[in-house]
Amino acid sequence: MIEFDLIVRNGTVVTASDSYKADVGVKDEKVVAISQNLEAAADTKVIDAKGMYVFPGGIDVHVHFQLPFSGTVSADDFENGTKAAACGGVTTVLDFAIQTKGRSIMEAIEARRAEADSKVCVDYGLHAAITDWNADTQAEIAKIIDYGIPSFKMFMIYKNEGWMADDGMLFNALEMTAKLGGHIGVHAESVDVLNMLIERYAEEKEKWGAYGHTLSRPCYTESEAIIRAIQWAEATGGKLYIVHMSTGEGADAVHAAKQRGVRVFAETCPQYLLLDDEVFKRENGHLYATCPQIKKPHDSERLWKGLQNGDVQVLATDTCTFTTEQKAAWNGDFRKIPFGLPGVETMIPLMYTEGVGKRGFSINQLVTLVSTNPAKLFGMYPDKGTIAIGSDADLLVFDPKREITIHARNLQTNCDWSPFEGWELVGYPSITISRGKIVAREGKFVGEVGYGTFLKRRPYGEI
Ligand code: URP
Ligand code: ZN
Ligand code: ZN
Repeated sequence: MIEFDLIVRNGTVVTASDSYKADVGVKDEKVVAISQNLEAAADTKVIDAKGMYVFPGGIDVHVHFQLPFSGTVSADDFENGTKAAACGGVTTVLDFAIQTKGRSIMEAIEARRAEADSKVCVDYGLHAAITDWNADTQAEIAKIIDYGIPSFKMFMIYKNEGWMADDGMLFNALEMTAKLGGHIGVHAESVDVLNMLIERYAEEKEKWGAYGHTLSRPCYTESEAIIRAIQWAEATGGKLYIVHMSTGEGADAVHAAKQRGVRVFAETCPQYLLLDDEVFKRENGHLYATCPQIKKPHDSERLWKGLQNGDVQVLATDTCTFTTEQKAAWNGDFRKIPFGLPGVETMIPLMYTEGVGKRGFSINQLVTLVSTNPAKLFGMYPDKGTIAIGSDADLLVFDPKREITIHARNLQTNCDWSPFEGWELVGYPSITISRGKIVAREGKFVGEVGYGTFLKRRPYGEI
């Protein structure tokens, strides 16, 4: 008989394909049994999950903890950001190591690990953001994939920050990863048109206020860049991943490319599904500035449809938290707003209420979008992203009946405001388990700082 460390009893186990009543037995950080009436030993911890769903832990593949950006540093560091993740039912996050021009990518990875390894409270991995495409960088790609980082990121904007990758770099990197494995994620916006429009609207910045942020970034600045990146993926055979897709036109372009057999995948985020650009007209509208910015209701509708029909495969958050004090640096100039929003803590409950509760998504679809697809695409499946014998015991015991109202003051994030302040939710994480250890209960962190581990990921994964 197995002496379980933990049994999650009487819940409804939910995977991408099934939902069924069972007990889940955990030993040495792994799921070792899924069955009825598992027997507890004297030392076995038992969680009664009657009336609850047992989901695989959420995976947020797009967070920026303690990111130096916009003249400040994002307010959730690796410690608090991963605590917030745990409270929101997310047991794995992927952050970014951004190469400094003139330096190696590996140096950026090592620096990021030095910041994160002893602090993270759930498991984490890194994407490698390439900003400098030279012979040394090119020689590093295979080494980085081998190291366990098969996902690269290229920014098609952020020229001034020194992060931008031009088309030649993107083409080359797609070509190389097509041969070596791995994929290229892109932040797709048209840099030159964008910068020109930003300066145009800045001439009347007092008139436009925070709404200038949205006026200066019309939808075509995203869709043009998506179409261009798709073109390079098609020509090279490389695998492309569109991060934080915000437009209906973008979703149409991904759909058309998929029909032609291009290897392109896309992610969207709750802010693009649930908010629209009227928020920038509010008194505190500048708080909502993120990049790409929140678009129109018809964009949200198209993105929801994309999640239903498979044009969009992943839900992530692009968490990049700035407090009201940090956001105040804008001082009336939309160009100076630190771009980014909190999100990792509220993604799953928001998507449950809005997607499952209001739009008829199945609980299996929810699991697919926030856990299974991310695990598959980013080389973590089946250790992560499902509940099966041998997978990591990353579990979210989710209470579908719990009603809460979102208030920033009740959340773990260091952010003192929430884009979803006052939203009423039905369904909330009850207990989050990371590799067999309870790390959060009823929205409160109860884990250990430094418990999370760095994940070495595999260079494959289609869905
Ligand atoms: O506004 C955002 N999204 N800030 C973080 C950087 C990025 O572009 O993802
Ligand atoms: Zn971005
Ligand atoms: Zn981002």
